[in-house]
Amino acid sequence: MSKLYIKGGRRLDGTLRVQGAKNSILPILAASVLTAGNTVIENCPDISDTATAVEILKCLGCGVSRQSGVITVSSDNVDNFEIEEALMRKMRSSIVFLGAMLSRAGEAKISMPGGCELGPRPIDLHIDALSRMGAVFEDKRGYLECKCPDGLRGAEIHLRFPSVGATENIMLAAVTAKGTTVITNAAREPEIDDLSSLLRDMGAKIGTDGGNMVIEGVKRLYPVVHTVIPDRIVASTYLAAIAATGGKGKLIGANPLHFSSVIAALSDAGADVRWTKDTVTVKTDGRLKGVRNIRTMPYPGFPTDAQAPLMALMTTAKGDSVFVETIFENRFKHVNELIRMGARITVNDRVAVVEGVDKLQCSSVECTDLRGGAALAVAALSADGLTVIDNVGHIDRGYEKIEENLSALGADVKRY
Ligand code: EPZ
Repeated sequence: MSKLYIKGGRRLDGTLRVQGAKNSILPILAASVLTAGNTVIENCPDISDTATAVEILKCLGCGVSRQSGVITVSSDNVDNFEIEEALMRKMRSSIVFLGAMLSRAGEAKISMPGGCELGPRPIDLHIDALSRMGAVFEDKRGYLECKCPDGLRGAEIHLRFPSVGATENIMLAAVTAKGTTVITNAAREPEIDDLSSLLRDMGAKIGTDGGNMVIEGVKRLYPVVHTVIPDRIVASTYLAAIAATGGKGKLIGANPLHFSSVIAALSDAGADVRWTKDTVTVKTDGRLKGVRNIRTMPYPGFPTDAQAPLMALMTTAKGDSVFVETIFENRFKHVNELIRMGARITVNDRVAVVEGVDKLQCSSVECTDLRGGAALAVAALSADGLTVIDNVGHIDRGYEKIEENLSALGADVKRY
């Protein structure tokens, strides 16, 4: 994998357009399987997870064309419902193709999904829910074979945890199931709303009833044109990067309402953050102060995906910061790499205490996962000297053109 060479210690200053949301485009591409015809998706991020999702669509028999940020999926001839293991292992969200395949054809064969190693990534919520809708699963030597002998039917589904992926899979299965599906404790992330908006435009009947999601199955759906929402985690990461260098910057095309908890944390730390409906600016003069209550929660709480980039920022704040990771069991793998750069962090189970230091030291570090890798880029920008970040492919899964974007803000970043 390639490496990033970052000469830190320079104040960032500039304007950046925020890319389309990785965690939106993936289920939305899966949804394009639900109907024949050409579905056109705009504002697609140019990241490796998008490329993997396109490979999966082609593996299912779809025609896919890409014209810069626009992907057109032709789903007239979807004739294969088995996703090869190599593709499934490339990313976690490959699992949401399950619901789409069951909707389209009533069958699917998948292996266990891959994705960032953040602790066990079970799919019990997906399987339990789809089983209640009539799917029958058979474990065949690491592959899951799934059939719906009587088709998919609506069901009452309570999620013990508001799982994003499970909510998406249930939505994709329920929109053409026979009858009505009610999901209690469904995920409410902006990416879920983006998927709902696409499905409604396709003709699905999705509503809410007292906080529950209610989906009435329809006979067929229609291809549409859809624009993906901006990526709130990428926006959060670039704000952290600008703040980590004591700089100032403006993000355009961001939706501040999608990451207000991150903006609140940055403001609590002393950054001057302002916003309009589609821009966010940040300015920092002098050292930030520690924030002692960053607790990751389902939306609208603090997003777990922003935990690592914000931790990198807080390593040089004045005083201590406390991070509690409630979503994933093992999402502190970036801590050791930050410690190699002179950060002072102690981890006890799900709690990380960051004792602010004056400066990080440049070093050679390695990406452990997507957001952990982004955290290392934030840290490298604030450290004086040259930091080399290895395994940058992790970052490329979710951040488009990271070296160009950081360079546009005035950073000295090269990739070899
Ligand atoms: C989605 O992952 C996102 N990925 C993740 O972003 C994000 O961190 C996560 O939601 C939480 O917001 C995509 O959308 C592609 P979950 P997902 O199901 O769907 C447990 C990134 O960096 N769980 O909400 O996999 C699970 O173990 C990625 O962009 C079960 O126990 O997350 C975890 O502890 C990382 N059983 C918790 O729920 C299940 O069947 C959250 O998982 C499913 C999940």
